[in-house]
Amino acid sequence: MDLTEAAAAVRQNAYAPYSNFKVGAAVKSRSGKVYRGCNVENTAYPEGTCAEAGAIAAMVAAGESSLTEVAVIADSPEPVTPCGGCRQKLFEFATSDAKITMASVSGKIVTMNVSDLLPGAFVKSQMEKH
Ligand code: THU
Repeated sequence: MDLTEAAAAVRQNAYAPYSNFKVGAAVKSRSGKVYRGCNVENTAYPEGTCAEAGAIAAMVAAGESSLTEVAVIADSPEPVTPCGGCRQKLFEFATSDAKITMASVSGKIVTMNVSDLLPGAFVKSQMEKH
């Protein structure tokens, strides 16, 4: 199963009764393992979590901190692109050459890397004093 198929499979478990927009994400860690996540919404709308955040959290919970590939999929006319917060989360954990595949259920695919998605990312060194 490739990473986009893994994201499509977990998308079936998405809990999105408010937006009716189900999203699935899968990340491949440096060790080669695949971690999945789906969006989980909440009656208190801002408390919802994105699919990418779920996949990253699963990877970190398993003790890994580096990902080399990402796939995200939704039933959207064009391939779904990660929100601003997820771009920052991906930047934190993705290797600079990590391929991010964005897909629609209809089969459209766009690939980018993290720097394309988030130029000028906020990074830890900006918080360091001289
Ligand atoms: N969503 C994701 O899970 N990932 C994305 O890349 C885009 C948006 C979710 C958040 C919310 O549950 C729903 O899609 C609509 O914004």
